[in-house]
Amino acid sequence: MNVRLAKNSGFCFGVKRAINIALEAAEKYDDIVTLGPIIHNPQMVKNLKEQGIRNVMKISEINKRPTIIRSHGIKKDVFEKLKTEHIEIINATCPYVSKTQQYAEQLCNEGYQLVILGDKDHPEVNALQSYSNKKVIIVSDPKELPGNHFNKIGVISQTTRTIEDLKDLVSSLIPKCRELKVMNTICNATSVRQSATIKLAKESDLMIVIGGKNSSNTKMLARICSKIIETHHIEVAEEIGKEWFNNKCDIGLTAGASTPDWIIVEVYNKISECLGDIIMKASSIADIPGFKEKK
Ligand code: F3S
Repeated sequence: MNVRLAKNSGFCFGVKRAINIALEAAEKYDDIVTLGPIIHNPQMVKNLKEQGIRNVMKISEINKRPTIIRSHGIKKDVFEKLKTEHIEIINATCPYVSKTQQYAEQLCNEGYQLVILGDKDHPEVNALQSYSNKKVIIVSDPKELPGNHFNKIGVISQTTRTIEDLKDLVSSLIPKCRELKVMNTICNATSVRQSATIKLAKESDLMIVIGGKNSSNTKMLARICSKIIETHHIEVAEEIGKEWFNNKCDIGLTAGASTPDWIIVEVYNKISECLGDIIMKASSIADIPGFKEKK
C-alpha cells in the first residue's frame, strides 16, 4: 500500500504569514480578535481561540479591541470604518489578495467594466467587489455572463480559481468587447498545488482531500480530484471510513492552503490505523515514516 502526499500540500505563504502575525499579536495584546475567521479552517480557528484569539463577525462586537484582518481580506468600507473608529488594525491580508484589490480599484478608475471570476458568496470576492465604485459582474462560469457588449472590460480572478477557468472566461469575453485587459491574479500557490494534486490523482486509486469544508481552494482540489478518481473531502481524521481502502493500492493525500500540518499528520495516522501495516513515529509531515512527498 502506498500512501503519498501531493507536493505543496498544506499551508501556503499567505496563510502561514497570517497565523504568524496573529500569534505574534497575541503575545503583545491580552485581548485580541479577528474580524471573520482568519483562515477557512474551523479546527485552526478553534485552536487560535484556545490561544486567546477570538473570532467576531461584526464591527459592533469588536469593543475597541485590536483587530486582525484575515488572510483573504475585508471590504474597503469595513476597513475604513475600523480606521474611523480608531481600532488598532493588525493587517494579515495576504499580499497577493491586497494586490488583487488594488487591481480591482485601478481597473475601475481606468474605466473598465470589472468582471471578477469567482464565487459571489466568498468573502475574498465580496471584498474585491467593494474596491469598485461601479457595478461589478461576478461569474463562476462564462455561461453566467450577460448578453450585452462593452467598450472596455477588465478581468481579475479570485486567487484560488484555476487557470483553465480563467482561460475559458477570457475566450468568452473577447467577442463581448472592443478592449480586454486581463490581470492574472490566480495565486501561484494555488496553481502549483492543483498541478501536483492532478499528477498524484492520476497515479492513485483513491484521493483524500483534507481541509475546511468552507475552504474555497480545498473544495476546488476535491472537485478536480473527483473528476479523475474516487475522492473524499474530509476536515478531520475521524471522518475516514475503513471501507474506503478495500481493494485500493495507491492512496493519494492532498490538503488545501489553509490546512494545518497537524491535521494532515492525524489523517495519515488514522489511515495507518485502518490499514494496520504502517508504523507512525512522526510528529510532522516531513518526519512521517513512509510518507513520500510526490516529486
Ligand atoms: Fe495568499 Fe495565495 Fe495563500 S493568495 S492566502 S498565498 S493561496
